[in-house]
Amino acid sequence: MNRRDFLKDTTAFASVAILPSSAWKRVKHTPLRTAHIGVGGMMGAADLKSFSSHPLVQVTALCDVDTTFLAAAKALYPKANVFRDYRKMLDSIGKEIDAVCVCTPDHTHAPASLMAMEMGKPVYCQKPLTHHVSEARAMKKLAADKKLVTQMGIQCHSSDMYRQAVTLIQNGLIGKVSCVRAWSPKNWGYDGPAPTGSDPVPETLDWNLWVGTSPERPYKQGFYHPYNWRKLLDYGCGTLGDMGVHIFDTPYTACGLTVPNTVKTSCREPNGFSHPEHNVVEYEFPKTKYTTDNFKWIWYDGEGAPPAHPDLKLPDDEPLPEQGAMFVGEKGNLLLPHWDFPRLIVGNTFEPIDFPEIEPQDHYHQFVDACMGRDTCSASFDYAANLTEAILLGVIANRFPNETLHWDIASGTFVESKANELLDFRYRKF
Ligand SMILES: NC(=O)c1ccc[n+]([C@@H]2O[C@H](COP(=O)([O-])OP(=O)(O)OC[C@H]3O[C@@H](n4cnc5c(N)ncnc54)[C@H](O)[C@@H]3O)[C@@H](O)[C@H]2O)c1
Repeated sequence: MNRRDFLKDTTAFASVAILPSSAWKRVKHTPLRTAHIGVGGMMGAADLKSFSSHPLVQVTALCDVDTTFLAAAKALYPKANVFRDYRKMLDSIGKEIDAVCVCTPDHTHAPASLMAMEMGKPVYCQKPLTHHVSEARAMKKLAADKKLVTQMGIQCHSSDMYRQAVTLIQNGLIGKVSCVRAWSPKNWGYDGPAPTGSDPVPETLDWNLWVGTSPERPYKQGFYHPYNWRKLLDYGCGTLGDMGVHIFDTPYTACGLTVPNTVKTSCREPNGFSHPEHNVVEYEFPKTKYTTDNFKWIWYDGEGAPPAHPDLKLPDDEPLPEQGAMFVGEKGNLLLPHWDFPRLIVGNTFEPIDFPEIEPQDHYHQFVDACMGRDTCSASFDYAANLTEAILLGVIANRFPNETLHWDIASGTFVESKANELLDFRYRKF
């Protein structure tokens, strides 16, 4: 089955069910020998540290296309084998690897993860799970077919703060939710012109490997590697595909959402190169147990976000947290600052919350323990692919500004056929 066929597989978007640890294939080797693809930049080194803080993890292989980052990681894990090309790593020492962590730019998440999963390896992959909808479906299907332990790197999913919010919403603290407004003033967009010409590729960087399956293009300093790739259509998913994954995750889980009926992004005209610097993305989802009819999720990003709105006015004119989400319910509102505990607002007053007891959870250790058959991942690809798909539909909508796109849940395609071109992608040979 090729990736395009996954789009036609309507069962790919089955409801999210967290299966017991016994349902997944267990790794028999102790310690768990891990391979890390992308070990530098903003997140790779942090992921490596979090994994290796588990006493049963042995960091066995490190892979990075930039030797500066590779050398820094090797200094911390001197016994690990080093590689620049993940394909060579998996081909040559695949048998000595029990699990793989992928922390590259978004466009390489699926190619690297799918190769590891084909070889039967459990995978921890950073958010958003993939760059294209077809890839998210392929990852979910392969993980299920091979019964692999998987986890997407949204560590706040396991935080007490976000789990408390899920429990409070599902226990009916504010009644049924009609709308969630969420915001981040971060700007992972770029409204300037595409660069012309080329710059010398730094000696430390293998540019061909960095570009990987995406279209070939000349290197330009400051535009792509490191981290600025987020702003560009071919490699990243803009601010929605970055902060939006974290901030939408809790409403998505708490409200039991699956696929939207419609999505509309208000932003500048498309330029064929980069994501817009300012976006307002409005989704409408089918009713669930926790929502009213026509539930809306509205996302604001870019400098100055969010604009003033009565739903976002806090008691005593307190300023809004820099990033976060506001659940609007029948009996009150729940403010969820990004990376903080929720706060209850009834009328024009903050009310105290009786927080339920919950067990602490470590997102990375949960994956390691799940590989050993002792735990279950809370953000397995079964869940993460659906969340990512919903996010990516909003990212696609920035190519059709101010137009409401209708998602046909049964066929897993847009009613507006021009948008379906963006669900899938042909890999470059590299
Ligand atoms: N969960 C979080 O809180 C969080 C935070 C930041 C970033 N992220 C995610 O982590 C991933 C990496 O983001 P970043 O900001 O660290 O990016 P970055 O560009 O700063 O770093 C990426 C790293 O991967 C390496 N790399 C690039 N292509 C590679 C390839 N083909 N093979 C091996 N190594 C490769 C780079 O050299 C670099 O070391 C992204 O998916 C991002 O969304 C998650």
